[in-house]
Amino acid sequence: MLLPIIMAGGTGSRLWPLSRELMPKQFLTLCGQSTMLQATLERLQGLDAVQPLVICNEDHRFIAAEQLRQINQLQHNIILEPVGRNTAPAIALAALSAQRKGQDPLLLVLAADHVIQDVPAFHQAIATATELAKANKLVTFGIVPTAPETGYGYIRRGTKTTDSTEEHTLSTTAFTVAEFVEKPSKTIAEQYLASGEYYWNSGMFLFKASVYLAKLQHYRPDILAACEQAIDSPEPDLDFIRVNKAAFAACPADSIDYAVMEKTQDAVVVPLDAGWSDVGAWSSLWDISSKDAQNNVLHGDVFQHNSSHNYVYSETGIVTTVGLHNTVIIQTKDAILVAAKDQVQDVKHIVQQLKNSG
Ligand code: GDD
Ligand code: MG
Repeated sequence: MLLPIIMAGGTGSRLWPLSRELMPKQFLTLCGQSTMLQATLERLQGLDAVQPLVICNEDHRFIAAEQLRQINQLQHNIILEPVGRNTAPAIALAALSAQRKGQDPLLLVLAADHVIQDVPAFHQAIATATELAKANKLVTFGIVPTAPETGYGYIRRGTKTTDSTEEHTLSTTAFTVAEFVEKPSKTIAEQYLASGEYYWNSGMFLFKASVYLAKLQHYRPDILAACEQAIDSPEPDLDFIRVNKAAFAACPADSIDYAVMEKTQDAVVVPLDAGWSDVGAWSSLWDISSKDAQNNVLHGDVFQHNSSHNYVYSETGIVTTVGLHNTVIIQTKDAILVAAKDQVQDVKHIVQQLKNSG
């Protein structure tokens, strides 16, 4: 049984001012017709999987439920977190909720804010990963890196794996994970890129629920214990799975990357060449969007003269530029961002400043 679990509890602060606390990026329509969450679910059509489980913050429950309803997905398959404790606990909640039903599904762990252009290639990689996960491996999906990005995990390829069971032959190659380093420094990332031996971690995983829980028990028993308490004494709710507030609030925060993937010896990597992007910042949206003759991406009432390589988004009103290049302009009802396109990773610092200023 393949159970997709969609992690949708992030804040998406680098996509401010469109992405806000009450409406983070996974719930926005940033490319195409669907929201990022809906696109994540729609991409699963054709897979032999059961109804996906969505895990998000309780503040977003109605947005998430409405977006599921719009694409005819069951709305009661939503686990609510009272506070964000990052991805290691979120995945533990999903694994435990299946285990409490007497099941041990293969968990296909997905982020709610990725773009994947080649869905057949994605499904092919999942097929390969499924065979490896059945053999108790923790599967990561590796992306060939194109820049020394510091916001990603890096995976060093080890030896080629072969499927242990005779009757299954893997349709794409997989490798053992020789090393997993989450968010290295710029200097280290440059070395990794130059070596040609590393993949970016896509942030998607496939493993048995029981295998993940055993790893968590080994490396972070404190996280597992808090999640068990949180799932075993839920808050009353007719529509959502609402975990125990106090127990979950007491859970240490950590990502699966630091808590498990950097430490385990049982990880494998399936290379994924499927037009993947994590749409982390405005520049990645520019990268993946179709452009006009001057390489601009324009949304809404935007007029330009002698301007190129810009990303300009107007939610309201007219935005015009003259002689402007490599710039991001985002105009919303109550805020405007103007940023150099090669520095948009730092938009998160503006969000922090705004928070601090109350
Ligand atoms: N339910 C829940 N609760 N979801 C969460 C939480 C949480 O507390 N925190 C984050 N998420 C969701 C986000 O919405 C996103 O879909 C996904 O989990 C990943 O979280 P990010 O915060 O975006 O992680 P990251 O981008 O810094 O790093 C991860 O992804 C990279 C690729 O995009 C890591 O796995 C890296 O190794 C990886 O390279
Ligand atoms: Mg991310």
